[in-house]
Amino acid sequence: MKTIFMTGKGGVGKSTLSSAVAWQLAESGKRVLAVSFDPAHNLGDIFHEELSHKKKRFKKTNLYLQETNLEKSAEEYIEANMSILNEVYNYLSVFNMDDYFNILKYSPGVEEYAALTALQRILTEEEKNFDYIIFDTPPTGLTLRILALPRITVAWIERLIKIRQQILEKRYTIHKITGKYSEKGTKLAYTEDEDRVMVKLWEMRRRYQSVQDALEGEHNRICVVFNPDYLSLKESERLLQGIHELKLPIETVFHNKLNETRSQVASGVEREILSRYPNLKIERVPEIDHTEPTCYVMDKNIIASFL
Ligand SMILES: Nc1ncnc2c1ncn2[C@@H]1O[C@H](COP(=O)(O)OP(=O)(O)O)[C@@H](O)[C@H]1O
Ligand SMILES: [Mg+2]
Repeated sequence: MKTIFMTGKGGVGKSTLSSAVAWQLAESGKRVLAVSFDPAHNLGDIFHEELSHKKKRFKKTNLYLQETNLEKSAEEYIEANMSILNEVYNYLSVFNMDDYFNILKYSPGVEEYAALTALQRILTEEEKNFDYIIFDTPPTGLTLRILALPRITVAWIERLIKIRQQILEKRYTIHKITGKYSEKGTKLAYTEDEDRVMVKLWEMRRRYQSVQDALEGEHNRICVVFNPDYLSLKESERLLQGIHELKLPIETVFHNKLNETRSQVASGVEREILSRYPNLKIERVPEIDHTEPTCYVMDKNIIASFL
């Protein structure tokens, strides 16, 4: 299975191009899932379909569509974490966890983690069902944070595992001094396999590492969409730099909404991008008269580099 992330500034055409790429791949016989991760979804508007958190087949074609409900994902993410806390630390059940839930819902980073959790789930659950998954992403800042998160989280978990190992070593020392455990006392685990916290940490590391592997892997493509104007150029440069720093694969950029009157700016913008990233392949997409309601059908073939 291959994945494509369509990224870029708001309004450059991420949803339009995600839809067109998804449609063309499906037309060529591939099984395709197009997922919107932008809280301001417009995949449904483009295909004239009522979409939800659950994938929906588009008119008996090979194409399925889905709009991820990030708020729902955030709740699922917090609930999953609370149940881990409850399971690992039994004494927490005496606190009112509902209060925590409501506070956590609005705490910084939850949106990004919710998106990451949803992303991980889609990658695992749909791997066998599709040849391609196209992700229509939110604007630059949030997307970069989501893409950076698996690596940062794995690094954090590694650190937590080290701290936990130190705790277990101390427990072991105490155990050696005090004997196995007293009849009244509770036995605290001192081996890694027996320690529930450690087992959870391993499980989390495996889960986040699998997303990182998928992002870095040869079957993933991050695409940047930009327009022939300097504001969009500046933001694309920041995005390209961010993706570059995260060492994620980028190959194709879409130069969207090209027209005659902007041809001079367009070549300036392309020159600047290529001077920094000479290996990028630029796919030009002309400005289209969108009086037709089916803008996902594009005359130009834009999927050659993904096949
Ligand atoms: N190639 C194109 N030609 C003409 N209009 C376009 C083209 N691509 C996108 N648009 C228009 O630009 C606007 C923003 O596109 P959209 O795909 O919603 O951007 P994003 O998802 O990046 O915010 C929409 O009105 C869309 O119809
Ligand atoms: Mg959009």
